[in-house]
Amino acid sequence: MTVMSRILNSIVAVCPDMGIGKNGNLPWHPIRLSNEFKHFQKMTMTPLVEGKKNVVLMGRKTWFSIPAANRPLKNRINIVLSRELNTAPEGAHYLASDFSSALHLLDSSELEKQVDQVWIIGGSAVYKFLVRFPGVPTGVQEENGVQYVFEVYESTDH
Ligand SMILES: NC(=O)c1ccc[n+]([C@@H]2O[C@H](COP(=O)([O-])OP(=O)(O)OC[C@H]3O[C@@H](n4cnc5c(N)ncnc54)[C@H](OP(=O)(O)O)[C@@H]3O)[C@@H](O)[C@H]2O)c1
Repeated sequence: MTVMSRILNSIVAVCPDMGIGKNGNLPWHPIRLSNEFKHFQKMTMTPLVEGKKNVVLMGRKTWFSIPAANRPLKNRINIVLSRELNTAPEGAHYLASDFSSALHLLDSSELEKQVDQVWIIGGSAVYKFLVRFPGVPTGVQEENGVQYVFEVYESTDH
């Protein structure tokens, strides 16, 4: 079975030192960044095609870092990635045991017609998995005593 090619969007809020989480929470917890949250909501919740819904795909720890009262993230199809869980956590719409199963799920007859944008919303384990560009080495490189990392940024027009 082939997977339909689709754009995967990703969104992440980072500290100046590139940190994205602390003790299972956002680094600035318990401070709330209301405008940052509104931006996240707007980006992930607004489908480009009326009548369809966006998907939010996240790791198990990110799912459980969301306050129970706010799960699932509303107006979006919530898919949780876990190798350990056998059933979707309470409130989540779908469980996927790996990235490719998640992509297959999007192409299933149940979801294919309803899904608009796909947003990968973390956490670090999931983002790390994504940053695998063919031919670009991952991790810290060292040459002649100098350490560096390759980072690839791509921009889109919307
Ligand atoms: N700043 C931001 O924008 C942002 C966004 C999201 C999260 N965060 C923060 O990030 C932290 C959580 O990140 P994390 O790395 O600890 O956890 P995570 O990525 O949310 O979840 C990790 C878990 O997800 C599952 N998983 C991840 N990749 C998978 C794959 N390819 N296939 C199957 N299952 C997979 C595994 O679950 P099992 O162990 O069940 O197999 C893994 O243990 C929290 O502090 C959270 O607040 C920050």
